[in-house]
Amino acid sequence: MQQKIIILDFGSQTTQLIGRRLRDLDTFCEILPYNKFPYDDPDVIGVILSGSPFSVYDPEAFKVDLSGIRGKYPILGICYGAQYMAHTMGGKVAPAGTREYGRANLQSFEKDNPLFKGFEPNSQVWMSHGDTIVALPDNFRCIASTDKVQYAAYQAEGEKLWGVQFHPEAFHSVQGTQLLKNFAVDICGGKQDWSAASFVESTVAQLKEELGNDRVILGLSGGVDSSVAAVLLNKAIGHNLTCIFVDHGLLRKDEFENVMKDYECLGLNVIGVNAHEKFFRELAGVSEPEKKRKIIGKGFIDVFDAEAQKITDARWLAQGTIYPDRIESLNITGKVIKSHHNVGGLPEKMNLRLCEPLKWLFKDEVRRVGRQMGMPDHLINRHPFPGPGLAVRILGDITPEKVRVLQEADDIFIRGLREWIDTDGVSLYDKVWQAGVILLPVQSVGVMGDERTYEKAVALRAVTSTDAMSADWAHLPYEFLAKVSNEIISHVKGVNRVTYDISSKPPATIEWE
Ligand code: XMP
Repeated sequence: MQQKIIILDFGSQTTQLIGRRLRDLDTFCEILPYNKFPYDDPDVIGVILSGSPFSVYDPEAFKVDLSGIRGKYPILGICYGAQYMAHTMGGKVAPAGTREYGRANLQSFEKDNPLFKGFEPNSQVWMSHGDTIVALPDNFRCIASTDKVQYAAYQAEGEKLWGVQFHPEAFHSVQGTQLLKNFAVDICGGKQDWSAASFVESTVAQLKEELGNDRVILGLSGGVDSSVAAVLLNKAIGHNLTCIFVDHGLLRKDEFENVMKDYECLGLNVIGVNAHEKFFRELAGVSEPEKKRKIIGKGFIDVFDAEAQKITDARWLAQGTIYPDRIESLNITGKVIKSHHNVGGLPEKMNLRLCEPLKWLFKDEVRRVGRQMGMPDHLINRHPFPGPGLAVRILGDITPEKVRVLQEADDIFIRGLREWIDTDGVSLYDKVWQAGVILLPVQSVGVMGDERTYEKAVALRAVTSTDAMSADWAHLPYEFLAKVSNEIISHVKGVNRVTYDISSKPPATIEWE
């Protein structure tokens, strides 16, 4: 029994942010495609309609019948959500002339409206819209205006139905989170009771009930998500969980051994599989990034499958899928556009049911859950690392020697980040979202002692981010970069030049391939 606000997604890029803001308030919510409202879910307490890239007049615009929702739950329409309700309930929406984008101020608003509780005069909001509401439906009342937008917010008379033209979820809507809290907590009656402890308690109970005495297998990657999923399942079903950790030979230096030790300390039942030879053999001579990814993806499934087949009575495949993976995987028509399952295809092939205990959590919530269960910080705070590992950080073809060179350079960089403690007591490692070294397919001239060298160049990459959707290059101290560069050139045979990548995402990406 988990009360929830449903966010119906009409395709806006900021829909996920609405969910994020509600979770920050410790209020539970689900983001669903605009036409997938869960009419039979008794735990729904309110509905938010998101923005959209479309105008209500676009032939492709997403349309949905709200008659089963209106009057039954409090509703808040945001941008397109507000326009759509105004348009379909008897008002009028028209192009705004020029697209209004940026900061605006609520010059007037209804101070005693529960949606605006706690709002300061002239509260700053963020606008981003091409259409605007020019007439409200008959029984609707304007409750806020800016200098350019007359109907910046409205409410239906006598109903718990609101629309706002601005984006309360945007960072620049200064009291936007307050507005979402007013809606979710005061108006809908949502409890702010999401905590890692309550999540662990209720999920372990649910898993016990659902899995009973069944055997479950889980693919571990060494990353945070699959590790937290494993510990949670271990708490629920103990040794009925078997974890499989495939080492494709493209992990960081000593990572397989270190992570295996961590897993053992956590009491997990783990089978470690060394499959270096298979992966190196299949990758030999392949330079094209997507081809490398495919070979690794398929190789991983083959190895995992062979191990999993040995556990003949397994009934479930567990995965550390988290919420953003699933949101990215589903477009709003409900079709899968990108599969995030790293063992995709296996559950059907092996006749297994899928168990994804973290599927509602954002990354930082997963970390909170891991901490709550006593997992060590170095495991919880690990940087994200791509599934194909160093293969996508070696530009061009892959050889064991190139992997060795990259592992050495990467180890110096990552160790350096961990050891460099800033004046505020936080390590550079903990300050950046993710870091790594890229081996470039470039040789350049250098001089070492009396000799000219002609060796490889590497690029250091470190970024700050909150979700990997966008990222900035980390402004690491020059002294630190100098130290790492010296250390790499003096200790890693085969490298005579170090560069630092100062591209942000977009337009670049975090990885180079
Ligand atoms: P990009 O390079 O697209 O990366 O900015 C965003 C995040 O995704 C990770 N990444 C991958 N993870 N398989 C994965 O499991 C992949 O093929 C892959 N490519 C990128 C990347 O490390 C970053 O965290």
